[in-house]
Amino acid sequence: MDYKKIIAEKLTVEGVSKEELYSFIEVPPNTDMGDYALPCFKLSKIMRRPPVVIAQNFADAFVPDEYILSCTAINGYLNFKINRQGYADALLKNIINSGDSYGASNIGEGKTVCIDYSSINIAKPFHIGHLSTTVIGSALCKIFRFLGYKVVGINHLGDYGTQFGKLIVAFKRWSSFDAVKEGRLKELSRIYVKYHDEAKLDPKMDDEARHYFKLIEDGDKEASELFELFKKITLEEVDKIYKLLNVTFDSYAGESFYNDKMAPVVEELKEKGLLKISDGASIVDLEEYGMPPCLILKSDGSTLYATRDIAAALYRKNTYDFDKCLYVVAYQQNLHFKQFFKVLELMGKDWAKDMVHVSYGMVSLESGSMSTRSGNVVLLEDVINKTIEKARAVIEDKNPNLPDKDKIAKSVGTGAVIFGALCNNKIKDITFSYDKVLSFEGETCPYVQYTVARCNSVIAKCGEYEGYKNIEMNDSEYAVISELGRFSEVVKAAAEKYEPSFVTRYALDLATAFNKFYIDCKIAVEDAEVKNFRLAITKAVKITLTNALTLLGIETVEQM
Ligand code: ARG
Repeated sequence: MDYKKIIAEKLTVEGVSKEELYSFIEVPPNTDMGDYALPCFKLSKIMRRPPVVIAQNFADAFVPDEYILSCTAINGYLNFKINRQGYADALLKNIINSGDSYGASNIGEGKTVCIDYSSINIAKPFHIGHLSTTVIGSALCKIFRFLGYKVVGINHLGDYGTQFGKLIVAFKRWSSFDAVKEGRLKELSRIYVKYHDEAKLDPKMDDEARHYFKLIEDGDKEASELFELFKKITLEEVDKIYKLLNVTFDSYAGESFYNDKMAPVVEELKEKGLLKISDGASIVDLEEYGMPPCLILKSDGSTLYATRDIAAALYRKNTYDFDKCLYVVAYQQNLHFKQFFKVLELMGKDWAKDMVHVSYGMVSLESGSMSTRSGNVVLLEDVINKTIEKARAVIEDKNPNLPDKDKIAKSVGTGAVIFGALCNNKIKDITFSYDKVLSFEGETCPYVQYTVARCNSVIAKCGEYEGYKNIEMNDSEYAVISELGRFSEVVKAAAEKYEPSFVTRYALDLATAFNKFYIDCKIAVEDAEVKNFRLAITKAVKITLTNALTLLGIETVEQM
């Protein structure tokens, strides 16, 4: 039951649609005065009257019904009191019946969203810098799916470029199949770093690297096999991390996938008169739009990052016919996306407006918390493992008799990393701190997971919920009900703004409301009506928190 909708239906304002009215209605921070409020200053321009007068006129004309009990005007606000009992009853029934689909919707039915995320570089270490794109992208995939969209999660692999020629040179000089099998990605990083040190002293190595890269492009057997080996090892290694983080992809079509799909793009740009030669390179001039040119071909005819992205966008449109195509990539690449979206627009692709760069801030590690390895980067795997280890130590300290300690430590540790990365508005830079993400107090995953475990123990103690008659609700109870009712709106807003942190914040708010209720209201009381009502709240909180965490890729634990 959507009370905002019911309220919007009851009010008529000439020149303002019901949808608009709906969007003006809010839940006041303090529900003493009312459960919903309409700030009338939003209407004063169109109604040409002061907010206080508008509010009073509405209040005077208001007719209560079974849903909305009263409406009063206070300081230019219209405050509505709803039938809390009726609302709570319908909501709790809905949540308990819907279970893991509570909050889901079909607003996305028939629509497709492509989400380009994680998009790692082959043979490069998977470092902490990849955390945000991976968990933001994965959460967006889950959120859009929950809303009924068809989602295509794409790992646009960085698997093209002279660096693979360099890696072959390095492999031949300083490594072996055995060493790579043994050392995996760390070995590849080691020799890649060594290459750069040595090539400074011996510039001929770069010629050799170019030669090998050309061999890969030409499909030479040995070179291609080595390249495929590097790719296989990288994907196997990152897959371990993806599994931990509950991340999956529908496509791994990376940069090299577009090798044979760029000639037509260059042709089309030429035909449309968009290509210019500048210093031997082919560019699209974007000066008119206040941007540097977009490079399409180098002077030797080779293609660039942007060329591949344009080809990939055309391919995605043709293959998936997306309604939106998202790129979850750090703000360092803001210009690149602006440029290539503009090129698509200039090519006359009206769907260029559906391309979205979901930009986010940097993650760094609290200084001194970990020594850097393999060429000055902090490996994501090390961060996750260290968090799991620390979680394990906390459990050992606080609850040593817990069954399944390893499994719980894994869920708590990885959850803490994901939640920590999704806790704030995505564009903010984050400093990752082990102690902060693992704390049981404050805005953390353990706090939310602990709340779910608390719900479980209440349910285990009191038995299953058996239904109740309408009861008089106190404020702590209603505060939980009011939070519970917000979930679907939060999920929709998270999709609309590409902001998984809305779901994270929501989980914290709901957990806080529940924990206050838990302290204020005894659940296992004599009165069966009251007990069952409180048990129903507890069960609904467990379901809703679990659904919220699942959307973020975080597991809940039975006990903690
Ligand atoms: N591999 C790139 C990097 O690490 C990110 C690719 C993002 N996706 C894209 N379609 N450009 O910088």
